Amino acid sequence: MGSPVTERAEATLNAWAQRASRVVPGGASTGSKRPDALFGEAATSTTPTHMRRAFGCRVETADGRILIDLTMALGAVAFGYADPEVTEAVQEAAAAGPVSGLSPLLEIEVAERLTEVVPCAEQVRFLKTGAEATAAAIRLARAHTGRDVIIASGYFGWHDWSNPGPGVPHSASVDVRMVPFNDTQALDEAVREAGEQLAGIIVEPLVHDVASTEWLRAVRAHCDELGAVLIFDEIKTAFRMHQGGVQALCGVIPDLTTLGKALANGYPLSAVVGRARVMSSARRAWISSTLASEMTALAAARVVLERHARTDVCGALARVGTKLQRALTKALAPHAPDLRMEGPPQMLRLVADNSVMLDALVVAATEEGVLLKRGAYQFAALAHDDAALASVESAVHAAALRVRAS
Ligand SMILES: Cc1ncc(COP(=O)(O)O)c(C=O)c1O
Repeated sequence: MGSPVTERAEATLNAWAQRASRVVPGGASTGSKRPDALFGEAATSTTPTHMRRAFGCRVETADGRILIDLTMALGAVAFGYADPEVTEAVQEAAAAGPVSGLSPLLEIEVAERLTEVVPCAEQVRFLKTGAEATAAAIRLARAHTGRDVIIASGYFGWHDWSNPGPGVPHSASVDVRMVPFNDTQALDEAVREAGEQLAGIIVEPLVHDVASTEWLRAVRAHCDELGAVLIFDEIKTAFRMHQGGVQALCGVIPDLTTLGKALANGYPLSAVVGRARVMSSARRAWISSTLASEMTALAAARVVLERHARTDVCGALARVGTKLQRALTKALAPHAPDLRMEGPPQMLRLVADNSVMLDALVVAATEEGVLLKRGAYQFAALAHDDAALASVESAVHAAALRVRAS
């Protein structure tokens, strides 16, 4: 760890960076993987932005360095990269011919499993991305109620309904009212304003930390009172906080739930699941994608569901996360007391009062052999074994020392 980047490696990184910026606007197709999102102002000519491969909790960069990864593909991977059991199942599904003009049996099998583990799930529709799943949930809520207004709290992907900005018509969001997380008064006001026009409320039940039971009960009560649909977006939280998501922990059960990320340990699969009386609107509302039920991702999800059934994956993630939190706190406390760890152990955040220092630490950490996520969660994975966590501690300690000295 900590070996300096050679001139040759720097030339390799620069060549790839130039090629990326020529053909991929912003340098990356995923927002959080753009160089500026990864490293902020502190990016240098040797900060790694592209990988050759990922295995266990490690990633090999374009210039051949091996980093211990705490981003875990933005939470999409909870076991580890290239998990052997998942890989074998995916290879088998690929060899079997993963798509045809008929739906695969695997779609039924994985849907049945989901109805057993997610409290609100009586029926399931599969899609590929989280943004698609949340857009589908909104469409179902509107189709079910025959109303338009949505109250929303959280991040739901890049689609028009939730992400105003360049290229999005104003009309796409006139009926969407964003409210702050965990703020019961703001919620009450938005509900009062929407009144009988309220189709649904969609919330992330965890943003930095689990929402208060009071807030979650309030969203449930408002929906019950107005006949609106309550949606939990559990794309980050299901199969991580609990296999059934935060709803299985807090006891507030929504009508619909969106799933994704750790559901298929890095393969592209999302789902909208929920009560049959609401899900049945999917017969009328058009929700469809050509490759929604292709089998490689469903095969990965079946392995994920089987492992959760066999072992307490989420308990193990919490234990790994607790050790990670300890290691990072110990590494940072002596030299970077302004930086601290917050949130639940399965998905920790590295928080700083001073963002310049945070960016500098993230860059120094890559030079010491650890990929941290700037401005978002550090995700624990089963692959973060004790040896990896010890390496994280010493690398982040060395990085903090360098930042202090600079
Ligand atoms: C809570 C939540 N919902 C939706 C999304 C969008 O998912 P995707 O990026 O797969 O479209 C994300 C992605 O980070 C998310 O965290």
